[in-house]
Amino acid sequence: MNKIMITLLIFLFSIPGYAQESFMTLGERSSLNLDGNWNYIIDPYENGYYDYRWQPSPNGFFKNEKPKNKWDHIEYNFDTSDTLTVPGDWNSQRKELFFYEGTIWYKKSFDFKKKNDTRVFLRFGAANYLAIVYLNGEELGEHEGGFTPFSFEITNLVREKDNFIVVKVDNKRCAECVPTLNTDWWNYGGLTRNVSIIETPATFISDYVVQLKKGSTGEISGWIQLNGFKLHQEVSIALRDADIRRRYKTDSSGFVKYSFPASVKLWSPENPVLYEVTISSETDTIGGVIGFRTIETKGTQILLNGKPVFLRGISIHEEAPFRSGRANSIQDARTLLGWAKELGCNFVRLAHYPHNENMVKEADSLGLMIWSEIPVYWTIRWENDQTFKNASRQLSEMIARDRNRASIICWSVSNETPLSPPRLEFLKGLVRKAREMDPTRLLTAAMERHYIDATTQMIDDPLGEFVDVLGCNEYIGWYDGLPQKTDAIRWKTVFNKPLIISEFGGSALFGYHADSLTAWSEEFQESLYTHQLAMLRKIPFLSGMSPWILMDFRSPRRQLPGIQDFRNRKGLLSERGEKKKAFYVLQKYYKELQQEK
Ligand code: GCU
Repeated sequence: MNKIMITLLIFLFSIPGYAQESFMTLGERSSLNLDGNWNYIIDPYENGYYDYRWQPSPNGFFKNEKPKNKWDHIEYNFDTSDTLTVPGDWNSQRKELFFYEGTIWYKKSFDFKKKNDTRVFLRFGAANYLAIVYLNGEELGEHEGGFTPFSFEITNLVREKDNFIVVKVDNKRCAECVPTLNTDWWNYGGLTRNVSIIETPATFISDYVVQLKKGSTGEISGWIQLNGFKLHQEVSIALRDADIRRRYKTDSSGFVKYSFPASVKLWSPENPVLYEVTISSETDTIGGVIGFRTIETKGTQILLNGKPVFLRGISIHEEAPFRSGRANSIQDARTLLGWAKELGCNFVRLAHYPHNENMVKEADSLGLMIWSEIPVYWTIRWENDQTFKNASRQLSEMIARDRNRASIICWSVSNETPLSPPRLEFLKGLVRKAREMDPTRLLTAAMERHYIDATTQMIDDPLGEFVDVLGCNEYIGWYDGLPQKTDAIRWKTVFNKPLIISEFGGSALFGYHADSLTAWSEEFQESLYTHQLAMLRKIPFLSGMSPWILMDFRSPRRQLPGIQDFRNRKGLLSERGEKKKAFYVLQKYYKELQQEK
């Protein structure tokens, strides 16, 4: 292919447009890390984007303009503006931004010496909620959704000196958004995860799957996708500790599907064995650690590596322990998942959106199975086509990022969504998309239930027909009667499928002690857990639980002064890591379950 063709193709690949979510290996490459201090400008009226007639201005803040003459009057200046730390939400970094919902502009300058015959990408781990990205005054494109990675090719735009990235991040909620207007978590805005420049060979490995073939413990299967100009290549897969190396040829689109017999140690919470996997082409090499396990259902049981498993779980929000704000570091992940291990968990529900990659990698290493979900939460606009496309894109970005992670055993497409025909069609569409992208994992959702008489809870949500595992949140003893009410409750379902009680719980302020019928006391929460666990033990089709929630977390819906102060207090730990009495009730139960095995 001659130089003209290559230049033309590079140009075609780097046309600004929608964020490239298909280059998922970018997150696994070494790169120029752009984390640190970024200048920022608060822009509540989006004056940096629209002119006074509310039309997009050609001279917005993304130009990063400087006065050329003494009479020039430019009404912004990134270089004399304050800085925010990236990654990090803005709400927890500045008092005046605690409740801020709107646009903030970020700016970062950098130099970059590009090597020969390479391509260059700008990658964001996430930005909440809507990001428009510019490089050297040129718009690269935009990304909607606050919890998944995205990247733009900048091969033709990046220069050796004085590059400047400008990002418009807008965290305003909207009815058609995903999530929609109303959520029970803090709307942390900003560049909440890592930002980096990544350089790849001209033709690189843009995506791959290396997993056990569905239902098999002796065969590895998957595919490899190249991106670039020399797409017909020999590629290889090596598993160092299993003494495996296999070679294949990609087709004219740079794609090859493969499978081969493999004798590997199976990943499990008891033995989270991970293999060094290296994928190579003639022009690129990428590596990572991958665990191999099977996950399936049999009637009302969940089978891990062919054996029934009970999911001893806990729900977790991406709330930073101790400092509050969005968690994002490996230390945050180790603290949160360390508490889950201390509780006796083998399972965590990462609510209500894809968490940062540190959480998932740490779970792989620690041996914690994961329920991962997209923020299709409560009253989504089911009949809005853009809303569906948004949810579907966030789902595909979540799956593409994590489908080689052994810890993730199920994808959830929704949480507590009110029944209606449009809602069912919307969610069936997401289930189809997930199965198409990843036939190996289980599909679930936190679905609806209802009383069929004074003491019988029924799970017959029509979505149950289309998922593999029934998820269901219930708050008997908190929103529904007192803890003693659970004693008479029985559960039924019309589906022959496993059930995970994906939420139950009640609030308590750490250190507030009273009798077990006094709301907000640790004793009330302790009693609620005792009664709840006694009820749940009786459910014959129960295969797991993820009580709500590991740690107290910020919520704009929890105002009670002196008790909540804008935190949801259903945590088993306070935001300072202090264990409440209910922590020990659940820990004791999980220990008994382990001994029963
Ligand atoms: C719901 C919801 C959670 C919420 C919880 C609560 O079940 O799924 O996001 O925080 O109830 O009311 O505390």
